[in-house]
Amino acid sequence: MTKFTLLIVLLIFPFSSNKTTDEGLKDLFEDSFYLGVAVNRQQVADNEKQLFPLLKTHFNSLSPENGLKWEKVHPQLDLYDFEFGDAYVGLGEKLGAFTVGHCLVWHQQVPDWVFEDAAGEQLEKSALLSRMEDHIAKVAGRYKSRIDGWDVVNEAFNEDGSYRESKWFKIAGKDFIKEAFRKAHEIDPDAELYYNDYNMWKTSKRAGVLKLAKEMKAEGIRIDGIGMQGHYMLEGPSLADIEQGIIEIAEAGFTVMITELDVDVLPRPSNSEGADLNMNYANSPEFNPFVNGISPEAEEKLAQRYADLFQLFLKHKDKISRVTLWGLHDGKSWLNNFPVRGRTNYPLLFDRELKLKEGVFEKLREVAGG
Ligand code: G3I
Repeated sequence: MTKFTLLIVLLIFPFSSNKTTDEGLKDLFEDSFYLGVAVNRQQVADNEKQLFPLLKTHFNSLSPENGLKWEKVHPQLDLYDFEFGDAYVGLGEKLGAFTVGHCLVWHQQVPDWVFEDAAGEQLEKSALLSRMEDHIAKVAGRYKSRIDGWDVVNEAFNEDGSYRESKWFKIAGKDFIKEAFRKAHEIDPDAELYYNDYNMWKTSKRAGVLKLAKEMKAEGIRIDGIGMQGHYMLEGPSLADIEQGIIEIAEAGFTVMITELDVDVLPRPSNSEGADLNMNYANSPEFNPFVNGISPEAEEKLAQRYADLFQLFLKHKDKISRVTLWGLHDGKSWLNNFPVRGRTNYPLLFDRELKLKEGVFEKLREVAGG
């Protein structure tokens, strides 16, 4: 090598290595689908500090983990609280992100008063639907043209494909779902509208959801996509089952989104309900094995699981518009408290120090062909 060539190499090297450092997760998939992340209240409030560059580098879509759910945004009949929502939407705009609303109608995180009149008696169907429509008008109306897509109805089906016996369903039947989508479209005609559920890889559940979604479409009710939440474990569900879900949803005429992706690395007790049992499980090394750090074997399995999942999503990139991680980093994941409270879990792409898991990134880069 001549002195001149050496000089050129030395000059160029720092720039080529910088390019790798600046590369974000989202860049691996930029020709395929949005890469999103669910953010919580503290993260949104913190947006001027260290989080902003990290979000900007790695994600081009945002979801609100809890802050736009009914109990948060509409805690009392005549009281709306838009503090989180305004900051969240502002953050989405600052990032130039595809900004998702989650979720207008759900059986969880909804106050009891929603279903009752002033005397505490259960509402009639028409009164409940009109209350629901008011809620949608206020919330979706406030963020008209600023939220790009809404999870309109969340988790309205059982695993066998029957309707969940929620208060919504008991009072209003499946009409609550149709009316929610109708109203959301009336309020923000440009927003994409989604039905969102977990275990959509299960044939029976998916059949129930797709039957209703097709019925709605035939009746002229706008529904653009179906969210497969993607709360997965290291060993299951199988890639084949997830793939079948993606294919069938697309064949039925709906866009697929992986809306709440995370991978639980901890063993699941078969009978994990009940607070006392949970306390025991959390204290037991068998069910809480990584209190002082994840083992290299489990970390490797996690990286491989993410690589396998993203390889599958890339294979079906023509059907999938977005993949969203359900949380930014392990320290804030809901899986530290489910199905057992107080465990130490490692389900996401960033660790508790907000560092990207390098092994996972490398494997994702390989499957993305970068
Ligand atoms: O905000 C209170 C806090 O004031 C209180 O001190 C603390 C004590 O437990 O609770 C806090 O509320 C918790 C809230 O998350 C905010 O952290 C609730 O207890 C807890 O139940 C709630 O869990 C959320 C869960 O939805 C509710 O069902 C999770 O963070 C959130 O990740 C999870 O997200 C859902 C999706 O919306 C729908 N699909 C399933 C997914 C996972 O369950």
